Amino acid sequence: MNILLRIKRMNPETDTAPYFQEFTIDVAPSDRILDVLLLVKNTFDSTLAVRKSCAHGVCGSDAMIINGVECLACKTLVKDVATEENATVSVEPLKSLPVQRDLMVDQKAFFDKYISVNPFLMRKDVPKSGEIIQTPAEHAKFDDPTKCILCGSCYSACPIVEHKNPDFIGPAASIQAARFVFDSRDTDTQNRLAALDTPNGVSACDNHFNCTKVCPRGIKITKLINETKRALKASKT
Ligand code: SF4
Ligand code: FES
Repeated sequence: MNILLRIKRMNPETDTAPYFQEFTIDVAPSDRILDVLLLVKNTFDSTLAVRKSCAHGVCGSDAMIINGVECLACKTLVKDVATEENATVSVEPLKSLPVQRDLMVDQKAFFDKYISVNPFLMRKDVPKSGEIIQTPAEHAKFDDPTKCILCGSCYSACPIVEHKNPDFIGPAASIQAARFVFDSRDTDTQNRLAALDTPNGVSACDNHFNCTKVCPRGIKITKLINETKRALKASKT
């Protein structure tokens, strides 16, 4: 089948504004959008900038906006976004992060916010020997956010970051904070909750659910943020 592929392009060193470059391409419905983009890069225009690594939905590096929705190009098939001959498929970089070039964004702000929540286990009384026992039920409380691959889709889809408060730490950092707040082995819970109790912390979330809808790992992001808000409230009583 043929599709009309529209790729949003921008080279900040030479372009004054982004523009769409169009290609009519013969593809198979089972092709992945990442394959189609690499076909364009390898056949038609080698200057196209696109980030990818694993090509199997694990590394999170090829998150982009396809037909208006954040997703991983390597997990999106042509037939997911084009159901009829000559259908238009538009591909754009993630929002709320500066474009480095074409489909590649500068992820620094995203990762700075991620690092700001101390996304690692903190424990005061580490036993000299033996293990810190955790039950399956205790583990289940923070299992969901451990699936995050830091793709940035939720950050791009978040209307708070985009329109209301660009300093909001965003969905991904919020659930990484939750991942350790709800880990029974972590002893820094009160400090973690206090750090989230700011205008840029979890209270900035207005429950739009956009993040939850686009997460390629199916993480219940908004639910986790609300659980963290409740833990924060309980810590003050
Ligand atoms: Fe990507 Fe989901 Fe992690 Fe957000 S929570 S960075 S959408 S994997
Ligand atoms: Fe790694 Fe798509 S290239 S998730």
